[in-house]
Amino acid sequence: MIHLFVCNAQKTEVGKDVARALKIELKKQGLKSLFAGGQKHKTRVQTCSCLDQCKHCKKGAGAAVVVYPEGIWYGDVKPKDAADIVRDHIGEGHPVKRLLLE
Ligand code: FES
Repeated sequence: MIHLFVCNAQKTEVGKDVARALKIELKKQGLKSLFAGGQKHKTRVQTCSCLDQCKHCKKGAGAAVVVYPEGIWYGDVKPKDAADIVRDHIGEGHPVKRLLLE
């Protein structure tokens, strides 16, 4: 199981919108569950409270997102970024560099 945790602690609705967009893209791109390395992996989008990356979340332009169990962090994620995260990261297995946090 892959989890996409999306911070929802902003004062705006951006976190909720990002989570919704990620869910829609997973469905649209047919990647809610996929086979990789001979195993079936499901991907689940989960909203959560502060992820301690506020500089790139409520103090920035979007939401903080962490991909678990990989531990890959994204910051300032907006709903329009959902398609790239789903296609590149979940579908093709490489992170979206422009959104990566160190
Ligand atoms: S408010 Fe989103 S990471 Fe802190």
